[in-house]
Amino acid sequence: MRAKVTIVGAGNVGATTASYLAQRNYADIVLVDIVEGLPQGKALDLLEAGPVLGYDSYVVGTNSYEDTANSDVVVITSGVARKPGMTRDDLLFTNMNIVKGVTEQAIRYSTNCMIMVVSNPLDAMTQLAYMVSQFPKNRVFGQAGVLDTARFRAFLAMELNCSVQDVQAYVLGGHGDTMVPLVSMTTVGGVPISELLPKERVDALVQRTRDGGGEIVSLLKTGSAFYAPGASVASMVDAVLLDEKRIIPCSTLLEGEYGISGVYAGVPVKLGAGGIEQVIELKLAADELAGLQKSAKAVQDIVDLMKSKL
Ligand code: 2OP
Repeated sequence: MRAKVTIVGAGNVGATTASYLAQRNYADIVLVDIVEGLPQGKALDLLEAGPVLGYDSYVVGTNSYEDTANSDVVVITSGVARKPGMTRDDLLFTNMNIVKGVTEQAIRYSTNCMIMVVSNPLDAMTQLAYMVSQFPKNRVFGQAGVLDTARFRAFLAMELNCSVQDVQAYVLGGHGDTMVPLVSMTTVGGVPISELLPKERVDALVQRTRDGGGEIVSLLKTGSAFYAPGASVASMVDAVLLDEKRIIPCSTLLEGEYGISGVYAGVPVKLGAGGIEQVIELKLAADELAGLQKSAKAVQDIVDLMKSKL
């Protein structure tokens, strides 16, 4: 039987994720949204692309969660996106009610699924889905580090005029202004970045990475990024459904790792058929560990605010 992936939210991120996943041809996809016609129209359009692109993935759009029953993975993209000048945290009060509601609906019909959250503020929304679903922590995780790392790698490859494939990096922490690109572990073709670029250029690319989502928002003016986020989600669905056991940064519940407890934040994990199969504890430079802990504290503050309003 083919795997079944539900994508909640038929906006730009949801539809782009559906498109990337359909092209992989290993899963059927349900696109669900409250707006009548939107998921149906986008799903049909994607289905009709199949003969041209050569995939048989069945893509269906719906306003009813019954159609999502027995999904293997539920990707939550619902919520409003940022407008220029807003931080992801500014979305908290609007998106928390949306994410709470869609999580409750989705788990009624898919009791054994993995939940992958993409809505912002990312780490708090992932923690909310964990709290609401009461699923074990390995089955509830968030997409952010793959995207943030992709941005850092893209900027480094542009700077060094080399292939993105030869840039190795990790961006950890919360998906926000305090995220932590791990400069000490960044290599290009195996060579440490400190040997390839002066510190001020590395610092500038670290800052551009932190501002990466905002850079797209200020260019688009009416919404936020969706191609790189969609590609990042699709790669995480691959890791789960193809049991790839990828070592990639994901937002996961930390329980003492890196000296952080009781809060979701981005760290390297092993992602496979069991979801978060392992949290990987890297030996970080002291300033990077402090940065990660500061970032987790920023997430904790948002989570505390969220809990006070639930
Ligand atoms: C981003 O960083 C939307 O949070 C997402 O682009």
